[in-house]
Amino acid sequence: MQSVNKVPIWFMRQAGRYLPEYMKIREKEKDFLNLCLNPSLAAEISLQPIKRFDLDFIILFCDILVIPYSLGQNVTFLKNHGPKLEPISTRKDIIYKTPERCLEKISNVFKSVELLSERKGKKKLIGFCGGPFTVLNYMIEGGTSEKHEKIRHFVRKKKGKAQELSKIITEVSIEYLKKQIQNGVDYVQIFESWAGLLEEEEYDEFVIKPNKEISNKIRKFSPNTQIIHFPRGSKERYLNFVNEVDCDVISVDQTCPESIRELAKKKDITIQGDLDPKYLLGKEKNLLNKTIQILEKYKHNKHIFNLSHGITPMTPIKNVEMIIKTVKNYEFTKATS
Ligand code: CP3
Repeated sequence: MQSVNKVPIWFMRQAGRYLPEYMKIREKEKDFLNLCLNPSLAAEISLQPIKRFDLDFIILFCDILVIPYSLGQNVTFLKNHGPKLEPISTRKDIIYKTPERCLEKISNVFKSVELLSERKGKKKLIGFCGGPFTVLNYMIEGGTSEKHEKIRHFVRKKKGKAQELSKIITEVSIEYLKKQIQNGVDYVQIFESWAGLLEEEEYDEFVIKPNKEISNKIRKFSPNTQIIHFPRGSKERYLNFVNEVDCDVISVDQTCPESIRELAKKKDITIQGDLDPKYLLGKEKNLLNKTIQILEKYKHNKHIFNLSHGITPMTPIKNVEMIIKTVKNYEFTKATS
């Protein structure tokens, strides 16, 4: 037995509405997209949780929907309603010339990264993009959706059009991540939040294939950049995903099979997760027990403590503090095997 290093920790959506200092900036800048594209405010927001808590990673403050915006789709964020995208149905509905031309529209994001890399100190900086299927989902649904009928119909009945759009999103996302890397991010996370909507061949075509393409291109471009994949809701397909897509870290949720631990060990992949954010809204005792249970669960793996989805706006700050304290002070020994 040997004592082990502390488990590093960060939270998805660690900057956001549960923080009063975020709300203060948000009141001044009502347009969320403007906030994402304002380098000094975006950098300040990214650092807010770092100033308050003992976290190990800084995540760039932005949103996955800047990509549809860069492609020429109208994107707005309505108060209490989430994002609204002007509906499209074919490639002709977007203004796309080259990835470079699209990215000019959101080049301020790279300035935010530059500012953060100057101020990150010893912390690791995470950049990100949406997974191509998740971005396509929002582009076709026009916003958040309960049943996802439009996107399901689109991939089933208009496969060629869906493939064409997926290819464009993938190409732009690769260039977008490359520019973030050039400006100083150490990690990239690909948020494929709606991976769980697809099965079998559709999953292979619209989740595995584009995510694999992103990984391969990023690996070739910058071998030292750490790649985190998050194919949320993938259930047993989490295993296929890890077998097919090159990743350094796999971010997991409750749908992920237990056998991911064996597979991750075999492939020397870090597991990130998987505290359900709903525990942050409940009793402190349950939160503490669950946190310890997760630490124990992954003690034979390389592990980054995180949630299985973003922090919600009603989260009490004291609960965030409690998790961090628990993870930072947790003493466990682990077998050398
Ligand atoms: O993790 C971080 O701290 C970095 C910032 C970040 C945001 N969005 C800020 C944000 C990240 C990594 C995202 C990713 C994102 N955005 C995803 C993938 C992860 C997931 O949640 O599944 C998705 C699907 C989106 C799209 C999106 N953005 C939706 C559906 C919404 C509305 C719902 C909500 O929670 O408000 C947003 C808005 C958004 N993105 C907010 C923040 C802080 C809230 C905006 C506000 O201030 O009102």
